[in-house]
Amino acid sequence: MEKRENWGSKIGFIMAAAGSAVGLGNIWKFPFTAGDNGGGAFVLVYLIFVALIGFSVMLTEFTVGRRKQLAAVGAFKSVDRRWTFAGVLGVLSGFLIMGFYPVVGGWALAYVFKVMGGLLNNPATIGDAFGTFITNPTIPLIWMVLYLILNIVIVAKGVSSGIEKAGKILMPLLFCILIVIAIKGLTLPGAMEGMEFLFKPDFSKINGSVVLAALGQAFFSLSLGMGCMITYGSYLSKKENLVQNAAIVTAMDTAVALLAGIAMFPAMFAFGMEPAAGPGLVFVVVPTLFAEMGAMGPMFAVMFFIALTVAALTSSVSLLEVVVAFLIDEKKFTRKKAVFSSASIMALLCVLASLSLGGIGPKLFGTGAFDVFDLLTDKIFLAIGGMLLCIFAGWRLKKEDLYDEITSNGTVKFNLFGLWYALVKFIIPITILIVAVNGIRQGFESGSGPVMVVGIAIIAIFAAISKKL
Ligand code: PHE
Repeated sequence: MEKRENWGSKIGFIMAAAGSAVGLGNIWKFPFTAGDNGGGAFVLVYLIFVALIGFSVMLTEFTVGRRKQLAAVGAFKSVDRRWTFAGVLGVLSGFLIMGFYPVVGGWALAYVFKVMGGLLNNPATIGDAFGTFITNPTIPLIWMVLYLILNIVIVAKGVSSGIEKAGKILMPLLFCILIVIAIKGLTLPGAMEGMEFLFKPDFSKINGSVVLAALGQAFFSLSLGMGCMITYGSYLSKKENLVQNAAIVTAMDTAVALLAGIAMFPAMFAFGMEPAAGPGLVFVVVPTLFAEMGAMGPMFAVMFFIALTVAALTSSVSLLEVVVAFLIDEKKFTRKKAVFSSASIMALLCVLASLSLGGIGPKLFGTGAFDVFDLLTDKIFLAIGGMLLCIFAGWRLKKEDLYDEITSNGTVKFNLFGLWYALVKFIIPITILIVAVNGIRQGFESGSGPVMVVGIAIIAIFAAISKKL
């Protein structure tokens, strides 16, 4: 067999994996999801899930991927055909996340130009401008397509040359700009209320939906539960320390999410905005904040949206890569054909998603396409995908094989192996099951229940036809 392409360097892998993890999930989704779910209590549950479940699942994905040096589907299928569906479910998640992610990526790209065009000149209209923009039936589509084209170009070029370079250059820039925003926000009068909202848990706010939202956010933000980190791990050299890599990526991702929260909430409270402002949060708060900064404002704002676009890109290329790797490895497509065919379908899904924000297009149980794709993936497919992976690793693979793979045949130390194994084999699957059942139950009160049940049904159908996949 031909030798699998490897990452150019260790730092290259970490930047690419962190690039996948750090994206719109941290900077766009985390703040508004925390706001919607009551703030501090959500953040606390989220952090517990990241440490206990997120890190362990990431390590499991790296291990399973590198073990067979096969991407998501192959890593399952080569062990047991009955498990193929768990990999294919990940490919489906990739499609569905790419059915709305490029819409938001397109907004970020558009905002680079909107800021240059003088968006900040009139701070009072920034909020309305966002609403008018995303509900427009055509203009966001143009930006979405431009954004998708950037993805196509990067993924068509292959792993180490394309993805790695993009990540290495612009991730650190994003981090620095977020720090600037956070400092500015914290110095505004009334800012401390925002910090309290974010970090002082009000335990009465915790219920089944909040806990499921926190679990889903942990999976989404860390790029877990859909084979992405399996695929990236499959390109990783046998010498690398998987534990250390998983720890670094998890820590970086969490740091950026918290930093984004610190950049957003103090400013929001200072401006008297609602914490549950929804998906518009970064696109409204950040420009408003920069508008306050005088002459330097627009320059920082342009840099912020460029960096946000690039952070989104390094994530969406990893999503696209899961689908592309599946088509290349399992369906024998050429890379170009795989990229073009999958991106075309994603573009169609994105059109539905974008139009749904203006109230146009089909609905499922009263929910528009954008929210359906988000609900299915974030609340159901990723968490269940992570659960299936843990069951697969814990019950279908041999403990000794996992040990050998993680420790590179005993050369890398991992003292907590026993704890990790117990988490993966028992604790994580049971926890996810309980959280999902409770979350879906609660979903019937808020209207999202039926869509989530459809998600479960899709998984069941996939499992039933697994051998044919
Ligand atoms: N983690 C990415 C983000 O936070 C999104 C993503 C999810 C990427 C799943 C790959 C797989 O934006």
